Amino acid sequence: MSLSKAAQMRASEFRVHALYASLLLIISCVRVEAGYRAQTTSLTNLIVPGAQWRDTDGNVISAHGGGIVHVNNTFYWVGGSVGCCEGTALYSSPDLTTWTNHGIVYANDVSRPKLVFSETTGMWQILGQVGRQLDVASSANILGPYSEVGPPISPFGVGFTDFGLFLDDDGEAYALYSADHNNLVLSQISPSRTNFTKVMHQFNGVGLESPAMFKDGSTYFVIASHKTAYMHNNNVMYSAQSLTGPWSVQSYIAPSGTRTWNTQSTFALTIAGSVKTTHLYLGDRWVYPDLQNSTYVWLPMTIDQATKGVQAAWTDVFALDTETGVVSVPQGTKYEAEAGKVTGSASVASCATCSGNQLVTGIGATSTLTINNVTGRGEPQWVSFHYINTDGLFGDLTLTDNQTLALTKQRNATVALNGGTPMALPQYDTNAGIVMSVPLQLNLTLGNGNAITVASIDRQVAGDLDYIMVY
Ligand SMILES: *[C@@H]1O[C@H](CO)[C@@H](O)[C@H](O)[C@H]1NC(C)=O
Ligand SMILES: *[C@@H]1O[C@H](CO)[C@@H](O)[C@H](O)[C@H]1NC(C)=O
Ligand SMILES: *[C@@H]1O[C@H](CO)[C@@H](O)[C@H](O)[C@H]1NC(C)=O
Ligand SMILES: *[C@@H]1O[C@H](CO)[C@@H](O)[C@H](O)[C@H]1NC(C)=O
Ligand SMILES: *[C@@H]1O[C@H](CO)[C@@H](O)[C@H](O)[C@H]1NC(C)=O
Ligand SMILES: *[C@@H]1O[C@H](CO)[C@@H](O)[C@H](O)[C@H]1NC(C)=O
Ligand SMILES: *[C@@H]1O[C@H](CO)[C@@H](O)[C@H](O)[C@H]1NC(C)=O
Repeated sequence: MSLSKAAQMRASEFRVHALYASLLLIISCVRVEAGYRAQTTSLTNLIVPGAQWRDTDGNVISAHGGGIVHVNNTFYWVGGSVGCCEGTALYSSPDLTTWTNHGIVYANDVSRPKLVFSETTGMWQILGQVGRQLDVASSANILGPYSEVGPPISPFGVGFTDFGLFLDDDGEAYALYSADHNNLVLSQISPSRTNFTKVMHQFNGVGLESPAMFKDGSTYFVIASHKTAYMHNNNVMYSAQSLTGPWSVQSYIAPSGTRTWNTQSTFALTIAGSVKTTHLYLGDRWVYPDLQNSTYVWLPMTIDQATKGVQAAWTDVFALDTETGVVSVPQGTKYEAEAGKVTGSASVASCATCSGNQLVTGIGATSTLTINNVTGRGEPQWVSFHYINTDGLFGDLTLTDNQTLALTKQRNATVALNGGTPMALPQYDTNAGIVMSVPLQLNLTLGNGNAITVASIDRQVAGDLDYIMVY
């Protein structure tokens, strides 16, 4: 992950002058989910959805459509190295934030690979999609190398795409996948984890893909996206008390119009901590056609057992203690765009859904917005830019035409700190009135004299800016 040591928010490490003591207050003042005491220790494990995550060698993490297993206090993340290298990649981490790259562990470029252990054979298995079939590879060592167990197969004689995996608490593993006729299928995986034994349920004609599944208490939840290629849509969810159903289709897992925060589901990671169980939504934020620029958006989900509702609320940054399962959200400081200084044709405009009911529009190469007097700690800090870019007004539709070709209506803002070299800030399209955010790490100077200038590249136009949050 892109988090440098210096940026890790360890309250104990701050050596602040009395003048900046209030800063310490801000940093140690974290919002902890209802029912749990505020952490007195520190904010480590900072997860920054949508940032460019880097491994411990400083390289961009490439593990899309992936899945994670937790063994011996280590998380193993297997994913497709989309847009990068051929093959299936593996990373490991003790805390979900620092990731060591173990390279390509399986030569086949498997789509949506997932990792699972077989108690009966003692082998680790990678399952995923190759062509429209199930491909299975195994290794005695979780770190690989993995070798194909046989030719790819067509479970129950139907097409097999968009594989998701769920491990139940009784040790049984289940596969979710898109099959022919727009069906989403839930099948039991054999004890050797090399084949499927029976169909548990078919979600017929639903036109869903990229399924993820988890269990909270005795309730099973399935999350899946509509089929809109690399365009994001409002992912839906189902719940059931039994794998064979009945499954009740429920609402979106994120506010309508956010297209699941411009992501597509890939996995649900359950952290059964000593204090609480936290379920994380793992999504890919695809950037088409520059797929190598796709990022990861992980968000804690809240489960309402009374209504069986699941929500993945947005948070710019959060900390997850993988031992206790507790999620903490740092407070951050808000700076409204409309309070900044504009040049050229950039101007303040009204916006009913914006913070302060205003934003700054018309930001471009020579029409800039500068937010002055930003307080910093003299180290790299995450800054989230909350914007609107309605270029690609694409709602909750099914992709029926060649929209694929025009799908990423990305605007490209630039951000310069204290007159320094501008950095790129991609702003993917949003629905009307929907404010989204992109994070950037800025090395703010200590004190309140920082100036953040938002402009754009060449003749391009940046998104409209609502506000920034400094963490
Ligand atoms: C986990 O620990 C057990 C016991 O030491 C060991 O047998 C097993 O190989 C370890 N698994 C992994 C994936 O490291
Ligand atoms: C997979 O299992 C099915 C029955 O569920 C069986 O018909 C098929 O032969 C098996 N395929 C392989 C490669 O083992
Ligand atoms: C997109 O990826 C290319 C190639 O890896 C890289 O040069 C570029 O900086 C990336 N763009 C963004 C906005 O991250
Ligand atoms: C951040 O800037 C300070 C100077 O203000 C510098 O000493 C430090 O090395 C920088 N840190 C990083 C990670 O660039
Ligand atoms: C997509 O575009 C291609 C090339 O222009 C065309 O042949 C095809 O019919 C189009 N498909 C749809 C579904 O519009
Ligand atoms: C922004 O940059 C991306 C990637 O370089 C490019 O594909 C896209 O066309 C740019 N957007 C605009 C509005 O110029
Ligand atoms: C606020 O920013 C302005 C413009 O950079 C600067 O002149 C002023 O000194 C700053 N105020 C403080 C309290 O730092």
